[in-house]
Amino acid sequence: MPDDTLLNQIKDPANRPNPYPLYARLRQHPVSLQDDGSPDGVWVASTHGAISSLLGDPRVSSETLPPADRPKTGNPITDFLIKPIRDRIVNNHRPFIFRDPPDHDALRSAVMHQFTSERVQGMRERSDRLVEELLDAKRDVRRFDVVDDLAYPLPVTVICELFGVPREDEPKFHEWATQLASALEPDSLTNDETRAKNSRTFDAIAGYMGDLIKEKRKHRGDDMLSGLANDTTPDGVKMGDYDLIATAVLMLVAGHETTVNLITNGLLTLLRHPDEMERLRADPGRAPRVIEELLRYEPPVQFRLRRAISPIDIAGITIPEGGDILLLLAAGNRDAAVFPDPERFDPDRKGVRHLGFGGSLHYCLGAPLARFEAESALTALARRLTSPRLVEDPPPYRAGAALRGPQHLHVAIEGMGD
Ligand code: HEM
Repeated sequence: MPDDTLLNQIKDPANRPNPYPLYARLRQHPVSLQDDGSPDGVWVASTHGAISSLLGDPRVSSETLPPADRPKTGNPITDFLIKPIRDRIVNNHRPFIFRDPPDHDALRSAVMHQFTSERVQGMRERSDRLVEELLDAKRDVRRFDVVDDLAYPLPVTVICELFGVPREDEPKFHEWATQLASALEPDSLTNDETRAKNSRTFDAIAGYMGDLIKEKRKHRGDDMLSGLANDTTPDGVKMGDYDLIATAVLMLVAGHETTVNLITNGLLTLLRHPDEMERLRADPGRAPRVIEELLRYEPPVQFRLRRAISPIDIAGITIPEGGDILLLLAAGNRDAAVFPDPERFDPDRKGVRHLGFGGSLHYCLGAPLARFEAESALTALARRLTSPRLVEDPPPYRAGAALRGPQHLHVAIEGMGD
């Protein structure tokens, strides 16, 4: 029998700096039932094979959010008239990462129609320039925080510009995005206080988006939100307002929290492997390889949740209908059956089939953007930092076990070159 406390140990913040030995123990059973405090437990898939198979299985649903139940306010009109309507709207218009076909596919295709490679690649140069500006601002310091000074402002600025969110409104998103990202943490789904907070945050960001969408209809810009608000796709899809709001919120939150961790985990890993840092400095052309290996070795999204909509036989066990499933992408990424010497950080690996961006229907839509933002940041850091040194190793981590990354990464330097 596998140890059913491993998932709880993974969630324990004390294990955040290095959960990988726990993942290795889980991999001894490709799928195992773990105690998460719920009556039926959760089925954790931890090998590359089991995760890949479940990612592509139509019996596995992404509709895992509990029904909306917004907090009562004490005002009877709000609580008994408005609240049920709002709850119904929220239930029917989830962001498409939490939806199954056919709704998922229709919404995703409407976004893809706007998220063209031309529009995305158009931000590449901007991303390079932003990195240089952010590092120029630290020219005279001998110590800085990679999270606050670079890894956070870069993706936030890029996603806001792509979407046409006014620059002065960016700071509002910091708090909103951090709060909403907690919806990816399993415990937040059962914690009433977190759910109430997420509902209030969603209302605030949705109100803001609703106004911005109206504005984009009056004064169309050449940004993505203007396109989504005004255009119909070639297959005749035009998003309704509620889906549009949910989609815009999804893209902004996804564009905030994950790339921060890729850049920060990236610099942390390179500073722990100074030979690789030096190789990247000498040859910036290595960046794509470094980044793919980082997505395998320290993936920003460590796991995702699913639910079985009918019984699934896998690896000698049966996940029952209704069973909660946790796809431990980060464990699959260190599966020796697919990656020789998996605990080694080795950007020269061939044919890396990592799960860092998930797979199948829900494969990360922002992958090209995330890749070049990380490339801009890590190549500039390798080139410009003179004698960089970690001030604290391991650094302090953020609370999340699913979206895992340092809260701060203080680096001491002897200088900042050009
Ligand atoms: C390093 C950065 C990033 C990582 C590691 C990452 C990872 C992931 C993963 C693992 C999934 C799959 C979720 C699932 O299967 O349930 C996903 C989906 C998604 N990502 Fe990313 N992501 C990153 C950056 C971004 C960015 C910058 C954006 C937006 C511009 C974005 C937008 C999305 C969207 C919209 C989905 C949902 C796709 C769907 O359900 O069809 N991501 N991402």
